[in-house]
Amino acid sequence: MQIDLTEEQRQVRDLCREFAEAELRPNARRWDVEHTFPRDAVRKLADMGLLGVAVPSEWGGAGMDAVTYAVAMEEISRGCAGTGVIMSVNNSLYCDPVLKYGTEEQKRELLAPFARGEKLGAFALTEPMSGSDAAEMRTVAVARGDEYVLDGTKNFITNGPQADAILVFAVTDRAKAHRGITAFLVPTDVAGFSRGKPDEKVGIRASGSCSIFFEGCALPKRLRLGQEGEGFKIAMSTLDGGRIGIAAQALGIARAAYEEAVAYAKERHSFGKKIAEHQAIQFMLADMATELEAARLLVWRAAAMKDRGGRHTAESAMAKLYASEMAERVTSKAIQIHGGYGYVKEYDVERHWRDSRITEIYEGTSEIQRLVISASVLKD
Ligand code: CAA
Ligand code: FAD
Repeated sequence: MQIDLTEEQRQVRDLCREFAEAELRPNARRWDVEHTFPRDAVRKLADMGLLGVAVPSEWGGAGMDAVTYAVAMEEISRGCAGTGVIMSVNNSLYCDPVLKYGTEEQKRELLAPFARGEKLGAFALTEPMSGSDAAEMRTVAVARGDEYVLDGTKNFITNGPQADAILVFAVTDRAKAHRGITAFLVPTDVAGFSRGKPDEKVGIRASGSCSIFFEGCALPKRLRLGQEGEGFKIAMSTLDGGRIGIAAQALGIARAAYEEAVAYAKERHSFGKKIAEHQAIQFMLADMATELEAARLLVWRAAAMKDRGGRHTAESAMAKLYASEMAERVTSKAIQIHGGYGYVKEYDVERHWRDSRITEIYEGTSEIQRLVISASVLKD
């Protein structure tokens, strides 16, 4: 496995790092406090090609690979974790499956403007009564002439408040269980679609999420993605890619907290010396640095496997599991190193800790990642 980045990947990393330093870090605290969607920053991400990183240029994307995407996600999330997830959902959970399963017509209408970042996409799998057990969904799509009629509710939909189209999963044949689930591309201006008020969240508050509702929502059949009954596999294979993005987001959040902890440890004094000179602090920093590097290797490995093609389900789950739990440990240690100042909003480490927490929950909880990994271990 190649461990070094290519020249092009380094250039993208540096560009994203500069952008995050100049445009995201200075604003992230305000977006968190005000719970605001960073519209201008998202427009700039679009100008940089970061909303369709791995989409070929003929469909409006930047035509880069999954490793570059992971590197970019780390840098953007280091600047603002909420902005990171806005980018991640549009790239991995919306553009990726439309590219992979869409018809030419769907790609023209429902991929290119999203990969260019003129429009924003979302992904709706979770429901009020089914999250981890995704196949238990209750939303239905009933075929009627040239249309499907959707009824049901989806919960916690990231980019939901802003999305122009949403990839939605619904049951078309209950008797077939997960093989009776179908995917649809739903433009949000269609009749019978509505959104709830934005969720009030603990972290990643620059990103918006909400419930969405379908009441007799009639969709032309040309908006079905893939074949009838193929929806669950589309959802699962999409999450194999998405989990790399969230793992990279966790890595970015952890790195921000780690860098701030290093700087603080060199400034703050106790017992006549810098706290960085106490071995207890040095050991925490050593553990944080080691875990960050380990997580990055897992993320890059999963991304490199995605680039090579073929299945990378367990590798993505390992990257997401380790990076998200690592981020919670590292951000918590960063608070510890800041002492009382870490617990108040004067410093950013408390936000990093709040932001890290969701990475252990969405795109499959840590428990679900362990199920996916153990299934692969036992099969092998
Ligand atoms: N790729 C392709 N196919 C897959 C697959 C994959 N990675 N994983 C499973 N499948 C297929 C299986 O081969 C099987 O197919 P057949 O039976 O037709 O041969 C079928 O799917 C069912 O597989 P399982 O029996 O393993 O399915 P299950 O019902 O036991 O569920 C699960 C498995 C892993 C727990 C799954 O339900 C899951 O991932 N749950 C978590 C849901 C989740 O991650 N939600 C995230 C929502 S999006 C989000 O959160 C976004 C955000 O925050 C930003
Ligand atoms: P549950 O499935 O009810 O799980 C509750 C607890 O039980 C968890 O600890 C879980 O790990 C555990 N558990 C469940 N089953 C098992 C098992 N078999 N073995 C061991 N433990 C188990 N969803 C989308 O579709 N699109 C989005 O864009 C999206 N964005 C989100 C954004 C935010 C901010 C949040 C909070 C959620 C988002 N989600 C989204 C939903 C997210 O993916 C789910 O919350 C998550 O998959 C868990 O589902 P749940 O909340 O229903 O928990």
